[in-house]
Amino acid sequence: MAKHKNFQILKLSILFGALFVFMMSAQAASSGQKALQKRGQAIAQANCGRCHATGVEGASKNPKSPPFRYLSRKYPLENLEEALGEGIVVGHEGVEMPEFRLNTAQIEALLAYLASIQKK
Ligand code: HEC
Repeated sequence: MAKHKNFQILKLSILFGALFVFMMSAQAASSGQKALQKRGQAIAQANCGRCHATGVEGASKNPKSPPFRYLSRKYPLENLEEALGEGIVVGHEGVEMPEFRLNTAQIEALLAYLASIQKK
C-alpha cells in the first residue's frame, strides 16, 4: 500500500516537473520575442522615425508617410519582408525616398516589432 502511494507521488512530481520545464521554456520564448521586438523598435526609430510614426500612437513627422501601426490595413505584413530584403522602395516614390538595406536579422526584428503594434 505504502509503495503504491509513493508511486503516485512520483507520478505527480514528474507531472509537475514537466509542467515547470514547459512553463519556463514558454517564458524564455516570450522574453526572446520581446527582445526581438525591442531591437525592431530601435531600427524603426533610427531609420524610419524621421518620416513615419513608429509607435502605437502619434502622427508621422512627414504627413505623407503612413504610421507603421496601420501598415497591415493595406496589406499583410509578410509582404513587407521581401520588400525590405530587396531594399525597400515600395510606395517610396519621389525625391524623399532613401533606399534601405537591412540584413535578415534586422528585418526579422523590424517585422516582429511592426506586428506587435498593428491596429486594425
Ligand atoms: C524620408 C522619409 C521616409 C523615411 C526615412 C522612410 N519612409 Fe517609408 N514612406 C515615406 C513616404 C512619404 C511614404 C508614402 C509614399 C506613398 O504613399 O507614395 C512611405 C511609405 C512606406 C510604406 C507603405 C508603402 C505602401 O505601399 O503603402 C512602408 C511599408 C514604408 N514606408 C516603410 C518604411 C520603412 C520600413 C522605413 C525605415 C526602414 C521607412 N519607410 C523610412 C517616407 C519615408
